[in-house]
Amino acid sequence: MTTAANRASITQRLKATAVGRAVRRKLRPAGAMPPNPLSTYFENNQGRLIHKWLHYLPIYDRHFAPYRDKPVTVLEFGVNQGGSLQMWKHYFGPGARIIGVDIDQRCAALGEEQIEIVIGDQEDRQFLRDLGEKIGEVDILIEDGGHTMTQQIATFEEFWPRIRTGGVLLMEDLQTSYWPKYGGGHKKPETFIEFAKNLIDQQHAWHSRDPESLEIDDYTRTIAGMHVYSGIIVFDKADVRRPTNKKVGTPSFPK
Ligand SMILES: C[S@@+](CC[C@H](N)C(=O)[O-])C[C@H]1O[C@@H](n2cnc3c(N)ncnc32)[C@H](O)[C@@H]1O
Repeated sequence: MTTAANRASITQRLKATAVGRAVRRKLRPAGAMPPNPLSTYFENNQGRLIHKWLHYLPIYDRHFAPYRDKPVTVLEFGVNQGGSLQMWKHYFGPGARIIGVDIDQRCAALGEEQIEIVIGDQEDRQFLRDLGEKIGEVDILIEDGGHTMTQQIATFEEFWPRIRTGGVLLMEDLQTSYWPKYGGGHKKPETFIEFAKNLIDQQHAWHSRDPESLEIDDYTRTIAGMHVYSGIIVFDKADVRRPTNKKVGTPSFPK
């Protein structure tokens, strides 16, 4: 007969093995988040208020983990109550410089050690250019500001050139591309999602047979990969060269 103590010991041993971990992963309800440091921080937050969709947290960790405990510059558009800036400070560690941008003057009071606040309108391209000059290259940009199409596109266009090679630009709350209140609508050419679809073409300009309409540009030369999630697109920046291919090994049959 299995006693409570026996059951506890079996669970304990299961937890410690790779098989046990696989079983527990399988038993997790569909859509539940795998444990990750940001979800843990978020669920236990005692600091300033944070507002995030829950499935974003493992996505952040997946793409941001290599930058933890490094001297990175992290720029977030959309400060709100200041909680996400505190979360980034905790996550990236004591060497990180965290910059938050918001249009709301009240946010100016939310600066603290490692956290700088800049007040301005992300729809104003001159503001964005001045900000870029002031803060220099950015390792990680999180776009969580006003969420209108013009704001998202202006921020992406002005800041992509300012992301450090090897850095990441993460656009979030892209569901607004489907919400009329934000300028969205299915297949509306002005939406960020339609803009992003064109970026997929631009990434593939190396293979264009039609230079009149699709030509290699600075984006083609710097986009390593776009990762599309529900509401989020992550853009990896790198020094990208023309793709090459070759054959290796012994043929299995004549051509
Ligand atoms: C979704 S909240 C940010 C949430 C915060 N990052 C968090 O995770 O808790 C969006 C913020 O964007 C700001 N915002 C709205 N329009 C803006 C604009 N044009 N320029 C800059 N910030 C703007 C709002 O004032 C608001 O604080």
